[in-house]
Amino acid sequence: MHYLVTGGAGFVGSHVVLALRDAGHSVVVFDNLSTGHRAAVPPDVPLVVGNLSDQALLNTVMENAKFDGVLHFAALSLVGDSMRVPFTYLRQNYLNSLQLIELCIHHAIRRFVFSSTAALFGTPEQQPIMEHATVNPGSPYGESKFLIERVLHWAETIYGMHSACLRYFNAAGSDPMGRAGEDHRPETHLIPLAIDTALGRRPALSIFGADYATADGTCVRDYIHVTDLAHAHLMALEQIETRSVTYNVGNTTGFSNLDVIRAVERVTGRNVNWSWAGRRQGDPATLIAGSERLRRETGWIPRIAALDDIVETAFRWRLTHPEGYAAPLPAMSPATGMDMPAIPLGADFPLPGAAEEFYRPASP
Ligand code: UFG
Repeated sequence: MHYLVTGGAGFVGSHVVLALRDAGHSVVVFDNLSTGHRAAVPPDVPLVVGNLSDQALLNTVMENAKFDGVLHFAALSLVGDSMRVPFTYLRQNYLNSLQLIELCIHHAIRRFVFSSTAALFGTPEQQPIMEHATVNPGSPYGESKFLIERVLHWAETIYGMHSACLRYFNAAGSDPMGRAGEDHRPETHLIPLAIDTALGRRPALSIFGADYATADGTCVRDYIHVTDLAHAHLMALEQIETRSVTYNVGNTTGFSNLDVIRAVERVTGRNVNWSWAGRRQGDPATLIAGSERLRRETGWIPRIAALDDIVETAFRWRLTHPEGYAAPLPAMSPATGMDMPAIPLGADFPLPGAAEEFYRPASP
């Protein structure tokens, strides 16, 4: 199959590009590189640099290639940020997606996979959160994603487009074969920040909020390995041959922010210098996925489910890419301020447990 991947230079998108190619599909990436990285796109994958708001460009891209489907990742995606600039989130995420979906219908592209979010549930009363739980977004970011889910509902009802809305919980980790990783600028996510703090690349980490209604007072999140998440997209593509689906994608286990710090300390063998800070606006206390529907209907199971294994893949990528995509695979030296052993260029990372056989592509 031939797929267009918007946001394919970003964290989740780039891992999905790898999964699609590992499965034998061909891909074109469309990305404005505002948060993504050229180096995150494999050199032999065509990259169109442009804004989703540029309908003429998108139209040309769709005219020039007959796509079997679109996977749509390009979006603003930070919960806390969306409380600061709400209308930017609502406008950009919603309008860009609306136009993209309309263009897909115009070009008779009938398969659409949408990166939705657990943030559309707000602060649900029941955990784990099932797909049928009440939608009540706690942030403009979550709201923007839900609006797009509604557009897809009408795209199916009226035009017969099949879509998969994948409501991600907290994507983390990096490609187990070391081909891609997480590089946000600025970085705001807990796991990469804690790793960089452990490595001494950041002086300290603030933990936002000590008074949530959770066991240790910090927020609880369900961390899903980005490669498991990517694989859920392949499964969803099979499903939408015949119908539209909505799935929660998570591990069904919650870890508090303090659990994450302890995991990072175990994996790195170093202390994380952290301190308390006030709550971050928009953060729900607990988000734990009920992913039974995805497992039952597609056979998907997370292969890298243990938090330490997830952190381990993120840590290894950071060791080989201390500057992220800016300077991939530099030599490790005392000049970097790190005394970690160097992992050789192109190192073949051992995969955790059962993931070994599953995620290694047949031909490298
Ligand atoms: N946190 C800190 N200190 C930091 C950074 C984060 O305490 O410096 C806390 C947050 O307050 C939150 C937890 O760590 O309690 C996780 O925060 P992240 O920023 O890592 O991730 P979020 O849960 O805010 O959001 C992520 C994605 C969203 C997605 C959501 C789904 O960024 O796009 O997961 O749960 F919608």
